[in-house]
Amino acid sequence: MDTLVPILYIIAFALFIYGLMGLTGPKTAVRGNLIAAVGMTIAVVATLLEVRHNWVLIIVGLVIGAALGVPSARTVKMTAMPQMVALFNGVGGGAVALIAWSEFRTSTGFLDEPGYVVVASMFAAIVGSISFWGSLIAFGKLQEILPGRPIGLGKAQQFVNGILLLAAVACAVVGGMGGAPQIWIIGLLVLAAVLGVLVVLPIGGADMPVVISLLNALTGLSAAAAGLALNNTAMIVAGMIVGASGSILTNLMATAMNRSIPAIVAGGFGGTTTLPGADDGIDRTVKSTSAADAAIQMAYASQVIVVPGYGMAVAQAQHAVKDMAKLLEAKGVEVKYAIHPVAGRMPGHMNVLLAEADVSYDALKEMDDINGEFSRTDVTLVIGANDVTNPAARTDPSSPIHGMPILNVDESRSVIVLKRSMSSGFAGIDNPLFYAENTSMLFGDAKKSVAAVTEELKAL
Ligand code: TAP
Repeated sequence: MDTLVPILYIIAFALFIYGLMGLTGPKTAVRGNLIAAVGMTIAVVATLLEVRHNWVLIIVGLVIGAALGVPSARTVKMTAMPQMVALFNGVGGGAVALIAWSEFRTSTGFLDEPGYVVVASMFAAIVGSISFWGSLIAFGKLQEILPGRPIGLGKAQQFVNGILLLAAVACAVVGGMGGAPQIWIIGLLVLAAVLGVLVVLPIGGADMPVVISLLNALTGLSAAAAGLALNNTAMIVAGMIVGASGSILTNLMATAMNRSIPAIVAGGFGGTTTLPGADDGIDRTVKSTSAADAAIQMAYASQVIVVPGYGMAVAQAQHAVKDMAKLLEAKGVEVKYAIHPVAGRMPGHMNVLLAEADVSYDALKEMDDINGEFSRTDVTLVIGANDVTNPAARTDPSSPIHGMPILNVDESRSVIVLKRSMSSGFAGIDNPLFYAENTSMLFGDAKKSVAAVTEELKAL
């Protein structure tokens, strides 16, 4: 058994890493997920072989977890995925915090435990508790159980958060002296819980995916710390993989939004919406178009680029878009999809929706690959996208999104924008694209508008 368990662990780690590699592209993602799941099953079996007691309790836990997790994962709507990830991730952090508490109890307050075990356990307890409670708040906001707007203590926020963190660390120091009463670790868990709640409450609902990714990274780190304390290699490796990939993802999302992680955590993003008619010397004349005009323009184009955004997800227009594209292709028009890395509200949001509608992966083009093509494109159809097409990011240094890489939609010969009104997107700012010479607006719900265009195309 002494050699079998490490061998099983090594196989499991190789499968984690191989599975993770599969997650780099939509074509291999499902297989990658399955490979990593096989790796985790092997790691669980190896741990059971190593532990050799309490099997009944562990198996009861596994059954309850699977009975709750599998149906919810199978039935969750794609649009509710961020909150489900928040919940699952939070439960991981909570489990780590409970492990640290249980270790405290069984070792009588870490009596005679080496220093590194005490430090790792206390770190796991604080970070795990912050992650659990923070993730619950993130879930509540996205599920609209809690208000999505920032809720904070204003200027006192950072001070109160700092005091809570200091108090939790103080509890960890006193509780880690050896043989201290349980009240210290309970105090630590409660203080970290309040901190988790107060850190996430002031963050706006739309910033949640970045925060969830950050909390996910923290859960990974706390699991790795707990693994160190328990001398469990599987937890260390899996925790570090989650910690590292979560940190990279958080950083990628923040970079694609041209924002710093501290700015996201501090909350309150968004400029003031400058509505048409604002007295700033900019001509805000908007041209409306009709489904019939849009259909004619596209039917006689040689290439159409579809730019999906958050509005396509809200309208659930992906199937209608696929049907429209099929008709255009039948008329000899080449249709491509331009995917911005932060279009929508979660990483890969557009890829997932379009894959659900069976759009070929080869038609999906990443920003860097398609940006050079807009100037050679007859018609660009923007479906519920706004910020990711805003030329102010390139041209206006005073814009809150200045420097954010965008899709150069404005360079196409003709741009048709499908949205319901002149309202701003996530960043809360005006979009000069909508007033450009070559842009026309098709107002209405994206699904209805696309369906109307499709009907017109059929008639041509
Ligand atoms: P947004 O800039 O948020 O714009 C979406 C637009 O969709 C809105 O202007 C809205 O205008 C329109 N819309 C909403 N419902 C619609 C419907 N039923 N039919 C038609 N249009 C509808 O979206 P985007 O361009 O995809 O950009 C994403 C933004 O979210 C970026 O600022 C990004 O930084 C941020 N963000 C992204 C992520 C990730 S990871 N993807 C995470 C957090 C934040 P109307 O109300 O006028 O219809």
